Amino acid sequence: MTDVSNTPPAEGDDRPVLTTRQGHPVPDNQNTRTVGSRGPATLENYHLIEKLSHFDRERIPERVVHARGATAFGVFTTTGVLGDSGEPLSELTRAKLFDAPGKKCEVAVRFSTVAGGRDSSEAVRDPRGFAVKFYTEDGNWDLVGNNLAVFFLRDAIKFPDFIHSQKPDPVTFERQIPARVFDFISQTPESLHMCTMVFGPRGIPASYRTQQGFGVNTYKWVNAAGETKLVKYHWLPKQGVKSMTGADAAAVQAEEPGAHTKDLYSAIAGGDFPEWELAVQLMDDHDHPELDWDPLDDTKTWPENDFPLRTIGTLQLNRAPRNFFNESEQIAFGTGVLVDGLDFSDDKMLVGRTFSYSDTQRHRVGANYLQLPVNSPKAAAVRTNQRDGQMNYSVDEGHENLTVNYEPSTIGGLREAEVPAHPAQGPTYNAQLTREHIERTNDYEQPGQRYQLSEPWEQDDLVANLGGLFEQCDRHIRERMVWHLFLCDDELGQRVGDAIGISADDIRHLEPLATQGWGPTEQKRLDNLGNNGPRDVQGLVMTHCVPNEHVAVADGNREFVGGAA
Ligand code: HEM
Repeated sequence: MTDVSNTPPAEGDDRPVLTTRQGHPVPDNQNTRTVGSRGPATLENYHLIEKLSHFDRERIPERVVHARGATAFGVFTTTGVLGDSGEPLSELTRAKLFDAPGKKCEVAVRFSTVAGGRDSSEAVRDPRGFAVKFYTEDGNWDLVGNNLAVFFLRDAIKFPDFIHSQKPDPVTFERQIPARVFDFISQTPESLHMCTMVFGPRGIPASYRTQQGFGVNTYKWVNAAGETKLVKYHWLPKQGVKSMTGADAAAVQAEEPGAHTKDLYSAIAGGDFPEWELAVQLMDDHDHPELDWDPLDDTKTWPENDFPLRTIGTLQLNRAPRNFFNESEQIAFGTGVLVDGLDFSDDKMLVGRTFSYSDTQRHRVGANYLQLPVNSPKAAAVRTNQRDGQMNYSVDEGHENLTVNYEPSTIGGLREAEVPAHPAQGPTYNAQLTREHIERTNDYEQPGQRYQLSEPWEQDDLVANLGGLFEQCDRHIRERMVWHLFLCDDELGQRVGDAIGISADDIRHLEPLATQGWGPTEQKRLDNLGNNGPRDVQGLVMTHCVPNEHVAVADGNREFVGGAA
């Protein structure tokens, strides 16, 4: 029985009627069923109990990182050829989404910040997630990257510690305390390259539309003959690259904590569809002993003068979610989600990431998270022998005898797919089990080059930010950080040191960290600390060294404050 409504519909009100999830019409959504108008409530009131108990369960755990973000949908169109070389992509990878010029594939993209909670401000200093799901005819491919081309770490085992140092203090819950952040980084010099960007203007993109994107980790392409190449992915925004300073971000935050999401959705609603070109860098698949860095090290970029960018397609975003929770909160990306023709490299971060994503999603969304429309393939059939589990609502069909939910079987069910032409591929290994960092750590060269090649306003902002943050750290952390900066670049060390009263002479006695990679090059720089001279960047084309426009909100530029310009 339902309660009796005492308010008939107004004349001409032909809106559809509210129901419960059981399909029962709801005649009274205002009054709880009680014994008399002031009396006790009855427990059999199905509508009240369904409504309250569903509300009690509205939240799922937020992402442990990248909780704040926004998803949009669109299309990826491949050129089918490698840049202007004319070489068909099908000769390099057998992934079907690239096999013909003009071929299109539906995509979902989620942009995010990293450290803050689900409702946190978006105008903050943080890397931005740039995760793309391609719904290809071979099944889904996720390219889960960031807006900065490198990462803080090169081994997944450090990730939980690093994130803890970035998250609020577990006792006081105070947000991002520099003494914790730089305590960790001072002991982790592989983070320095990332720091040269996060603590400069690249750490605060003006909007999601005006940032680059990168796969960051090194992947592989495999062709029909089983030949492999190492590959790095770059997203280049057609809107240009635009960034802010901390003062600009403060001005944005004061008006609109969700400025990036609002900007993205207003642009799409206004028909101003953002676009990015997808480009790749390729390298032969081996360890490249001729380089003084390791191609599998995600703290390094590949010099673009030696490994040129080649455009392979364009991404356009043209639809916002119809329901934010369904299509953004529940969307699930993972580095393990590859299609035939695309493969992992042995990058130690990538391997760890690949475990972590689907593991957290089974906990965060549920065991059947891949049945949700936003996560299931759109252009490929799904036929598994998986059954049951919480919130299961479909059985994969596609064969006659549904009692056979196992394989192999002589009486029906599903069969295995054909093996690729070359089941074995890539380099061979001859090594023993060990726990060692990679040999070519080279933690200081690229951060130094990056500083040299940054625009003057980017350098000034980086120096001012680092100086201000180091002032909030203990003396020993400040000293170690300035020591690292001098090893990267004299001028960077000098300028930040000057800001906080630490000279090269104050710190040249510091010994290298026991845990860090150290060789004759580093020792020579330490012996000459402060007198190494500028690094030679002649002819070097470094990833990220593209014009970066300053959106000076603090000076009254209203672009990107609470909506697209
Ligand atoms: C070993 C290192 C890493 C681990 C263990 C890790 C783990 C995670 C986890 C658990 C999530 C939450 C996923 C979810 O709840 O759906 C996540 C999200 C994300 N991570 Fe990582 N991560 C690592 C490194 C990286 C790196 C290097 C990048 C960039 C290249 C990155 C980019 C992202 C992005 C973009 C998201 C958000 C995906 C979305 O929008 O749903 N992560 N990561």
